[in-house]
Amino acid sequence: MADSPLLSIQGLQIKFPRTEGDFCAVDDVSLAINRGEILGLAGESGSGKSLTALAVTHLIPPPGQIIGGRVIFDGVDVASLAPADLLNLRGGRIGMIFQDPMSALNPTFTIGYQISEAYRLHTTATPAAARARTIEFLERVGIRDAPLRVDSYPHQLSGGMRQRVMIAMALICEPDLLIADEPTTALDTTVQVQILDLLREMREQLGLSILFISHDLAVVSELADRVAIIYAGNLMEILPAKSLANAACHPYSTGLLATLPTIEKRGRRLPVLEGMLEDADRERPGCPFAPRCPAAIGACSQEMPVLNQLSERHFAACHLIGGSL
Ligand SMILES: Nc1ncnc2c1ncn2[C@@H]1O[C@H](COP(=O)(O)OP(=O)(O)O)[C@@H](O)[C@H]1O
Ligand SMILES: [Mg+2]
Repeated sequence: MADSPLLSIQGLQIKFPRTEGDFCAVDDVSLAINRGEILGLAGESGSGKSLTALAVTHLIPPPGQIIGGRVIFDGVDVASLAPADLLNLRGGRIGMIFQDPMSALNPTFTIGYQISEAYRLHTTATPAAARARTIEFLERVGIRDAPLRVDSYPHQLSGGMRQRVMIAMALICEPDLLIADEPTTALDTTVQVQILDLLREMREQLGLSILFISHDLAVVSELADRVAIIYAGNLMEILPAKSLANAACHPYSTGLLATLPTIEKRGRRLPVLEGMLEDADRERPGCPFAPRCPAAIGACSQEMPVLNQLSERHFAACHLIGGSL
């Protein structure tokens, strides 16, 4: 089992019933995360990143439903888990952090209480042992004066410190997988860099795998080992982060890359990716990116291309690449 991926999402489909017809929010997403790997998931807002993350622990908000595909975690189909085992997975073997720590933390309890609760829920630790471990984890995530800070309330901390608290809470049970959904989006750039460094360090220390999600491809490629690019609920391209700049070839990926500032582009106006993701683009046959794609050909509006393997660790779903027709 050690060689198999820690997490494998296969052909995931999620729909929301709407009066005007079902809305397919995630159409076809397949991903695997190896042990100790950081997989980045990037794509514009509304592309299905958060829902994909929530599907891992079956937390899709109703009336949303998983209507196809499977999630296999450490060799076990998550759909087959008994309710108690699913609860143990959430926060136990899989830790989660989200964009806005203020809404995830309860303002009326100390951070120490909230972190140790997460620990006590999944272990038989005594309150004293849970408090000691909470202080240890606050130190690990870089909170100074942890024995004093443990009794602070969320509003007494800065945004960056609150996000560190969330990371401590997600990691206190030493999960195998951390799902971090836009964990740095609400933070200043300098704090963002510190949080990315912290996640890297935690991966080393705890041997974690991380699913790191951001709408910002630059942030994702900075941290991840491999990058998956998603559009309108479909996986468009997946490749090693270090070859992203040179080898990415899907027109959506290259379009996103062109919008990123680099030293070479300094002083020049950055291009924008024309158009936006429209709900109607999901309903039409073919590739949902076709209406915005500068390279689209006839086939693109007729049939969704399959994900083609271009090299050992590089896949792309485009009629113009790898000859899927
Ligand atoms: N609770 C919900 N009810 C209805 N539609 C939703 C809900 N959550 C997400 N969606 C829709 O599903 C699509 C994907 O959402 P999401 O996964 O949150 O995107 P992302 O995280 O990439 O911005 C969006 O178009 C969004 O409007
Ligand atoms: Mg999201």
